[in-house]
Amino acid sequence: MKSKLKTTCIIFLLSAVVIILSFFISLFFFKLDGKNPEKKDDRLILGFSQIGSESAWRTRNTQSIFEAAAANDIQILFDDAQQKQENQLKAIRSFIVYQVDIIAFVPIVEDGWDNVLREAKNAGIPVILVDRHINADKSLYAGFLGEDSLEEGRKAGQFLVEKCLNQKEKINILEISGTENSSVVKERSLGFREIIDGDKKFNIIHSQTGDFLRSRGKEIAENLIQKTRDSGNFKNDALYFDSQKIDVIFSHNDSMTLGVLDSFANYGINSRDTIIISIDAEQKSIDALVDGKLNCVVECNPDSGEMLMKLVRLLASGKQIPRTTYIDERVFTENDNFELYEERGY
Ligand code: AHR
Repeated sequence: MKSKLKTTCIIFLLSAVVIILSFFISLFFFKLDGKNPEKKDDRLILGFSQIGSESAWRTRNTQSIFEAAAANDIQILFDDAQQKQENQLKAIRSFIVYQVDIIAFVPIVEDGWDNVLREAKNAGIPVILVDRHINADKSLYAGFLGEDSLEEGRKAGQFLVEKCLNQKEKINILEISGTENSSVVKERSLGFREIIDGDKKFNIIHSQTGDFLRSRGKEIAENLIQKTRDSGNFKNDALYFDSQKIDVIFSHNDSMTLGVLDSFANYGINSRDTIIISIDAEQKSIDALVDGKLNCVVECNPDSGEMLMKLVRLLASGKQIPRTTYIDERVFTENDNFELYEERGY
């Protein structure tokens, strides 16, 4: 009697463990795309790991991929990594377990992807890099789709060189960059320096990361303002670094640029004499350009969705894709005919 009771208890406990485990596993898959994908249909499945929603650009990029997936009848297993590489690694591993057809991801930083990509390769799942490059063996991924960040940096530098063509005096530059160790920051910095380094009058007197966030752009500017206020030398004609007037701000994205403009408004800084160059071209920064608050905005095109779905279909049918697919991008400047501008949509 006692042993029968014991067996019943063990069976009960085991069943409880199985039920609880199944519950958590189903929750896990539910979290990936917001709906239960247990039932595989005939559509292609793309596992997509996005880094987060740090800027309007990023939100539009995610939206573009979702819209294109729907238009192409491709199912998405989505994960938002909340700016953490470890979350991206987890998401990619879950895509492998789920046996998606293709994996695409935006690598937040350049390093640390080899192992997970090897796992995807061993599972026979092709991988597409979106928006950012990585340092890894090229055989571990099928190709890259996104912007040419090196060229974006060069375009920013070219605008500055042309704008200051007739100027002889020293020009002090503040650089506000984005996520550390990301390819996009490295390349934008490189491209910009490649162009301005040819003329010794250009000096980058300070370079600091603002993590691509509006709040950080504002904070960086406010810290500089605070220092000049503390030293009793506050002037409202520009930002100052170590008592040197900043003539140019090169900001790696619009969110940070708009943050800088927020702080200018708060402290009554007149930005008209500061040359401000930004990257992305979201509507708010184009509006600031038209208002005369910015001088140049280099477009970083977030609308990679349609192109991504084309690459997904090619890979799914066993074909190769180009190693690199760049997306078209333009430059908006203070010299444009603003009447020709169209709504940016983000
Ligand atoms: O990787 C692209 C950059 O990331 C965009 O310039 C920026 O806005 C985004 O957050």
